[in-house]
Amino acid sequence: MSERIYCGDFSRDLLQQSVRLNGWVETNRDHGGVVFLDVRDRSGIVQVVAHPDQPEVHALAHSLRQQDVIEVRGTVVARSEETINSKLVTGEIEIVATDLRVLNRSKTPPFPVEDDCNTGEQHRLEYRYLDLRRPQMQRNLALRHKVTHAARNYLDRQRFLEIETPILNKSTPEGARDYLVPSRVYPGSFYALPQSPQLFKQLLMVAGADRYYQVARCFRDEDLRADRQPEFTQIDLEMSFVDQEEVMAIAEGLILAMFEAGTGLRPATPFPRISYHEAMEKYGLDRPDLRFDLAHVNITELMREVEFKVFREPAETGGLVKVLRVPGGASLTRKQIDAYTEFVGIYGAKGLAWIKVNDRADLPGGLQSPIVKFLPETVLARMLDVCDAENGDILFFGAGDARTVNDALGYLRVKIAEDMGLINDGEHSFVWVVDFPMFEWNADEHRPESLHHPFTSPDPAQLDRLESDPLSINSLAYDLVWNGTEIGGGSIRIHDSETQQRVFHALGISDEEANEKFGFLLRALQYGAPPHGGLAFGLDRILALMTKADSIRDVIAFPKTQRAADLMCDAPAEVADRQWQELGLRKRRTLNP
Ligand code: AMO
Ligand code: AMP
Repeated sequence: MSERIYCGDFSRDLLQQSVRLNGWVETNRDHGGVVFLDVRDRSGIVQVVAHPDQPEVHALAHSLRQQDVIEVRGTVVARSEETINSKLVTGEIEIVATDLRVLNRSKTPPFPVEDDCNTGEQHRLEYRYLDLRRPQMQRNLALRHKVTHAARNYLDRQRFLEIETPILNKSTPEGARDYLVPSRVYPGSFYALPQSPQLFKQLLMVAGADRYYQVARCFRDEDLRADRQPEFTQIDLEMSFVDQEEVMAIAEGLILAMFEAGTGLRPATPFPRISYHEAMEKYGLDRPDLRFDLAHVNITELMREVEFKVFREPAETGGLVKVLRVPGGASLTRKQIDAYTEFVGIYGAKGLAWIKVNDRADLPGGLQSPIVKFLPETVLARMLDVCDAENGDILFFGAGDARTVNDALGYLRVKIAEDMGLINDGEHSFVWVVDFPMFEWNADEHRPESLHHPFTSPDPAQLDRLESDPLSINSLAYDLVWNGTEIGGGSIRIHDSETQQRVFHALGISDEEANEKFGFLLRALQYGAPPHGGLAFGLDRILALMTKADSIRDVIAFPKTQRAADLMCDAPAEVADRQWQELGLRKRRTLNP
């Protein structure tokens, strides 16, 4: 009789049975002497009834307050026809209490423990254990479990071994700042927390593990955004004796397994592919959202000859001039256009020129715009042609250095699609971005920089240009993008020590520095390292997309704020003077010079 039944599991199947349940009091209503309790646990809600003919139970029930923790024993009975609650899974029955115990009382919670509680996130994070008690958050935790479990099952079926790698490490560069941990035993020396298990998984391939995966915690001290946390989780994998196609096929299978577990849907595979170059050219971002058609048109060449300095100068000095054509956009108001101009300003754009195409056949009178007067008719005609402009369109222009223009028009494309309702909520777009350049130019440091990481293999067919023209070569890297969010990325790796050294050189890393930082990797590559490659998915991002959460914080049990703080435990925190001493550290006289 006393086996506990979850609140959400009660149904007519249990009618007349004696049962026990545990949970938190959600509501307590007194209806003419009969007390009705809604009791919740992680599985759902069930109604408990306390009748006055059980005076002790009844009195206790009457005294209960929200979030008190109770144990109920009683009998499952059918509700009368008119009291059936069709909104509740357990709405056809109720539990008539014969015994009631208060296991713990609760103070009045600082906010209602229910969905749509309308409480600021600061408050929610400070009392995260109450926030997590809300049904939506319970569902998110359960979904996280389900999706992770599906990933493990899939990878197990594909003969991957789950192997843990160290948290106390030497720095692994993934482009962010490291979190450092001072060593007590070696004063002045520090461990770095892993930005990813990248080097260890490669060493596992050298070790013959053949197929590795890990649900891996990664730590990156970088500027935080809605889709970034200082510690986050990757489904990280690596495989030996594979090419890019084989890694991508396994990754698609993995995504399918996770997606199906999380949403019940099965997206079509293989996922389409787009080159990095085409993505940047048409969408301005290397993570294009392909759920809608808007695309950029490059008109840089056409602008070389015009007088209008705003467009000519970038065209002449290696910059970009691009158009975003928005069908039906001619109906945008001045106010809306001003708002978009302000929006692109966030990305550094100095302005947002525009042309409304009222009547294509009538040049220039049929065009409404502050810039038409600066452009010759022939150029206007040619421009409308290359943009496939139609009456009723608006054309937005970005001019300047490539990065600013791509960012500005790239984000504008997404913003306009959202505003104009071009995105169908039920649709999903998965796309592989491939053929990444191996390096990009770091103007501040005057050297090439890895677009992925320094262990990514250059395209072997272009390897001979590594020294002479490094910026012209591609790498064997690939990113998976889901609805405009990068959810994963990886590459085929360098597996011989000589190529690895050449890549370090190209990056401006001296032999000495390479040896000091990565000597262990260079050495390992000399002892029969197999060809290998892999990838890592951002689990938090995938779950945030599945749940349509505003932020990845909603799918992490105990996340940090945008300022990397834990508001509940109050971390980071000062430590005792004794700990400073033990670690051989000294406080600067002023911490904020
Ligand atoms: P990368 O740095 O692209 O690759 O990371 C892989 C995926 O991890 C997710 N991600 C994050 N999620 C939340 N918060 C963050 N701060 C954050 N940073 C990254 C993204 C990203 O696509 N070692 C390589 C993988 C490899 O080459 O196999 C790596 O870490 O979804
Ligand atoms: P101005 O000559 O600065 O008054 O700009 C004329 C028009 O060009 C205005 O509509 C500006 O918003 C637009 N504009 C100015 N700079 C840029 C730029 N870098 N890219 C696109 N449009 C611009």
